[in-house]
Amino acid sequence: MTAALTSSEPPLDSDRSFLRVLGGRSLSGELRVSGAKNSALVLMAACLLSRDAIRLRNVPALTDIDGMADMLESLGGRVQRLGDALELDGSGINRTEAPYELVNSLRASFFCIGPLLARMGMARVPLPGGCKIGSRPVEEHVKGLKALGAQVTIEHGVVTAAVPGPSRRLKGGRIVLDCPSVGATETLMMAAALADGETLIENAALEPEVVDLADLLVAMGARIRGAGTASITIAGVDRLHGADYAVIPDRIEAGTFLLAAAITRSSLRVAPLIPEHLCAVLSKLEQVGCVLDYDDDGGLTLSAERVTGLDLRTQPFPGFPTDLQAPFMSLLATAEGTSMVTESIFENRLQHVAELQRMGACIRTQGHTAFIEGVARLSGAPVQGTDLRASAAMVLAGLAAEGSTDVYGLEYLDRGYANLEGKLNAVGASIVRCSPTTKAGPSALAA
Ligand code: EPZ
Repeated sequence: MTAALTSSEPPLDSDRSFLRVLGGRSLSGELRVSGAKNSALVLMAACLLSRDAIRLRNVPALTDIDGMADMLESLGGRVQRLGDALELDGSGINRTEAPYELVNSLRASFFCIGPLLARMGMARVPLPGGCKIGSRPVEEHVKGLKALGAQVTIEHGVVTAAVPGPSRRLKGGRIVLDCPSVGATETLMMAAALADGETLIENAALEPEVVDLADLLVAMGARIRGAGTASITIAGVDRLHGADYAVIPDRIEAGTFLLAAAITRSSLRVAPLIPEHLCAVLSKLEQVGCVLDYDDDGGLTLSAERVTGLDLRTQPFPGFPTDLQAPFMSLLATAEGTSMVTESIFENRLQHVAELQRMGACIRTQGHTAFIEGVARLSGAPVQGTDLRASAAMVLAGLAAEGSTDVYGLEYLDRGYANLEGKLNAVGASIVRCSPTTKAGPSALAA
């Protein structure tokens, strides 16, 4: 649903559409959580490892998912959307070079390098490059692929990996990651799945999305032990067969929805949700005063009346997830008392502070730490989402603000949240997707 309102000059931004959020409304009801974006993307790449058809269920309808489908089809694969499932067919993979324009628009398509190399013995994938939250290096991926016997060069912004020898088959090896990189762990698990021999990945990432990938690979016939711990062992096999697999619920979307209840001081049920995937976040929500009520149907009801400040630092799983740092900061901006938020994963993930300040939040930053003095009421204003999660944080802030807030940066938001405004409006929010061109007055906002 789109309506235009011209009361605010859109910022210089590639996409000038925005969400107009009318604040101050209490929410009630249930928010349904979609499949995990950060799992579905890598599970799609894993389908390059098999010649058989693979069905992935519970795949969210997101622009990033479309981007990964384009990537797989550019390599000769076939991807068909059937409701909330994807049918992927890797039998026709006949290219080993990923197009620059696709990698540049979707960083996650760099995940193709591991399975392509394992399947074809060769892969040429452009460096994904940085983004607004950080430089996003991939040296851990490259180091690990070399440990599996690949010859890897980086020239003119392209990573070229090739497996020498007549078999062109990777060899198992021991890899110690310098940091528990989610992407590197996933790349190397996929590459090792078809290698000759056993691979050990030490200092592996523990994230639920890593475990989800391991579970899919095992369903395809891979032999993997230790996923979810810092030491993962992969015994390579000759081939992987098809599978029918459901993606886990999106813990970051679930956390975002819980924060929508908390910031509006409402009571909402969020489902499905796996508590173990959000342990640090749930603990912090209880610490600030939210009441959490778990039910037997995989849902969680959060109720909030008074919210007080706290300190948090983002960490690799099971610590507090960096992807919920910005949304949680929106809550802390409205909490009683002071808070301190430290971003320790990415080097530039506090850009939402300036946008929250435009809404009257009392925050100052020093290095990677934000010091927050909660205010009784934020005030609506035009704001810019600077990455996927910062955009979501601005929508949350708009829910709690006085007046209306125009959230720009929907090209980021739509990458990770399927129909966010539709889901929130169904529980009582008043959000309209607007473009600066079509005509409609402020009445376009739901009454
Ligand atoms: C994944 O990114 C997620 N993306 C990110 O979600 C998430 O924030 C991140 O993991 C951390 O949880 C997907 O899964 C598609 P990392 P990834 O490699 O794999 C450093 C979102 O909003 N590092 O674990 O790229 C890196 O610079 C997105 O949904 C190296 O130094 O994250 C960062 O500081 C944003 N060298 C830290 O590790 C490397 O070779 C974590 O990065 C690789 C990473």
